[in-house]
Amino acid sequence: MKSIKEEINLNNKKILLRLDLNVPLDGNKITDTTRIDKILPTLKFLISQNSKIIIISHVGRPKGKVVDELSLKPICKDLEIKLSQSIKLVSKNVNEITSKDLFHSDNEKIVMLENIRFCPEEEKNNQQFAKHLATLADIYVNDAFSCSHRAHASIHEITNFLPSYSGLQLSLEVDALKKITSEIKKPITCIIGGSKITTKINIIKNLIPKFDNIIIVGGMANNIIKYMGNNIGKSLQEENSDSIIEEIFSLSQTEKCKIIYPEDIVVGKNLNGVPQIKELNEILSDEMILDIGPKTINSINNIIDESSTILWNGPAGYFENPNFANGSIKIAKKIIENNKSNKIYSVAGGGDTVSLLNSLNAIKDFNFISTAGGAFLEYLEGQELPGIKALN
Ligand code: 3PG
Repeated sequence: MKSIKEEINLNNKKILLRLDLNVPLDGNKITDTTRIDKILPTLKFLISQNSKIIIISHVGRPKGKVVDELSLKPICKDLEIKLSQSIKLVSKNVNEITSKDLFHSDNEKIVMLENIRFCPEEEKNNQQFAKHLATLADIYVNDAFSCSHRAHASIHEITNFLPSYSGLQLSLEVDALKKITSEIKKPITCIIGGSKITTKINIIKNLIPKFDNIIIVGGMANNIIKYMGNNIGKSLQEENSDSIIEEIFSLSQTEKCKIIYPEDIVVGKNLNGVPQIKELNEILSDEMILDIGPKTINSINNIIDESSTILWNGPAGYFENPNFANGSIKIAKKIIENNKSNKIYSVAGGGDTVSLLNSLNAIKDFNFISTAGGAFLEYLEGQELPGIKALN
């Protein structure tokens, strides 16, 4: 993998820069800007080299359609303010964009293409689409480690058509994770939560042989609670996950990895609802699981106390509503307490987890923070991510 810092001549070169600006949005408001802040050094470096920058990113999952709420407009505005530089957002369908639509004067240094996932070709890793993107630039840079587990056109196929480099943040994350995973101290506990069940549930199987404990919370735990014969009402869930759960439990026995899942939960009638602590067999059909309960928090705290390394990806509940943030906050506080007394080495990753830790002003209390969620877990699986493989 060659870093963009190794390319000697960037003067006036057009750089197609893939970023992950998939930040949490509340309407037009960005609720956590960590992913934007982390890539500023790459942008500043390219500006200092007098390059012309074409930013590509996605936000959310528009599934190949134009979804106005998932426009990159607010993100483009935030970047303009942070760089004190105007950035043109090109809203035209990417398939129809030509070089003429990009830079109109010497003063124009940065343009941003609209959400790349508005085009169905992106997620299909479409060759023609990647080839077309390549016609817009001289060099490709991937500074989106958190998307590099996706074999998508602007991450994977594009590298076949342009000289390709890693960005500063991507190199930093890969180097840090390489070091962490090679020097990792046992017992290792991995906490997996969040709402992206499809992305994460299949990864758990491959993590079992590597870790001593896997704590499953958040959306993914709902499927386990259901598998155990409980009604989970309107809770977030993944269809047809019984066989994978069976595999997880059977493998955990042979590999001597303890699987911890909620013993009690907090439910609400909806995301804005009133919290109520319940036993697993008390959930009503019009309720949804939105956090872990006090008995579960207690068990998790005990596991953290027995661990030397904690890897955390995904909150324990719908922390965006303070009524359902208690489980995630208690986990964060316990990790911080043990980190401060040097009992553990702690790594956290993922957009939502980072946003939670930012709201607690706790980023500095972890040994390493990754911007990546799914990519972070897939990296821990030990497999080369498609985006990294393509750069290599
Ligand atoms: C992330 O938030 O993990 C990345 O932006 C990838 O998003 P995805 O899970 O929708 O591919």
